[in-house]
Amino acid sequence: MSNHFGGEWTEIKINVFKKYLKAYMQIMKGKPWKLIYFDGFAGSGDIHSKKETEKVIEGTARHVLNIKEPRAFDLFYFVEKNIDNASRLQRIINTDYPEKTEVAFVRGGEDCNVKLLDMGNFLRGFKGKNYKAIAFIDPYGMQVKWSSLESLKGLSLDLWILVPTGIGINRLLKNAEKSSLVWFETLGTFFGLDPKEIEEKFYYQDPQMDIFGEQRFKKIENAVEVAAKLYQERLKTIFKYVSEPLALRNSNNAVLFHFMSASNVQVAIKIANDILKKEV
Ligand SMILES: C[S@@+](CC[C@H](N)C(=O)[O-])C[C@H]1O[C@@H](n2cnc3c(N)ncnc32)[C@H](O)[C@@H]1O
Repeated sequence: MSNHFGGEWTEIKINVFKKYLKAYMQIMKGKPWKLIYFDGFAGSGDIHSKKETEKVIEGTARHVLNIKEPRAFDLFYFVEKNIDNASRLQRIINTDYPEKTEVAFVRGGEDCNVKLLDMGNFLRGFKGKNYKAIAFIDPYGMQVKWSSLESLKGLSLDLWILVPTGIGINRLLKNAEKSSLVWFETLGTFFGLDPKEIEEKFYYQDPQMDIFGEQRFKKIENAVEVAAKLYQERLKTIFKYVSEPLALRNSNNAVLFHFMSASNVQVAIKIANDILKKEV
């Protein structure tokens, strides 16, 4: 099974990221650091449409491998849990990018969370001082643990992440009644917060009691936007600067993800915001 094309938002995501990489490489041109591209949810290299009219677009991995000017990445690290997807990506690298086979590593069957910790350890180590990294985190859902991102604190790394505000977080927040404790715990792990704090952010007490005199709780109206702002705030505890979140919507205009960037370099986030602003 290869990756599936989600719709126009998939192209917006790739275009935003490509624009950022272009600006990043311009700044890094002639600089002494080696550059690592880390892709935590790399996919198969190509993205296929689910519809009958088969549309295939190039996945992010290909775009990144294609970058040559003003400079290229020195090392590519692709993590992909699905073995078939990883094999396809490896085949694409071998066939279409033979010059990269020595520096592009595909880690099939591995979990992004584990590899984020490994990368953090590498960058913190003696050799890591010579490197700067970009981490692109593009999951289908809520796979990224907060503790994995926390391991990136203080590193020379720019993060781009899709936060599943609509497709993941909002679905766990039930409307009719408060979500179960298990879901608050899941959301707590995702945001790196106490389950009680999650409850307080997304629910309020209805002043009207139910017919048995029990206090009722209601979900806030704008949970998706609040989730995006909350994630942005949480990222600011790891990185010095965080961009504005960009809502990525499906053809029914429902928000699926918020796309945002984080860095310890102010100018990186200024550039990210300039690019993201144009997509709103
Ligand atoms: C949205 S797709 C990635 C698309 C890709 N960025 C692109 O532009 O072509 C998400 C991918 O993550 C993989 N995946 C799911 N859970 C994972 C995990 N815990 N660690 C690494 N990869 C995972 C899936 O098999 C899927 O291929």
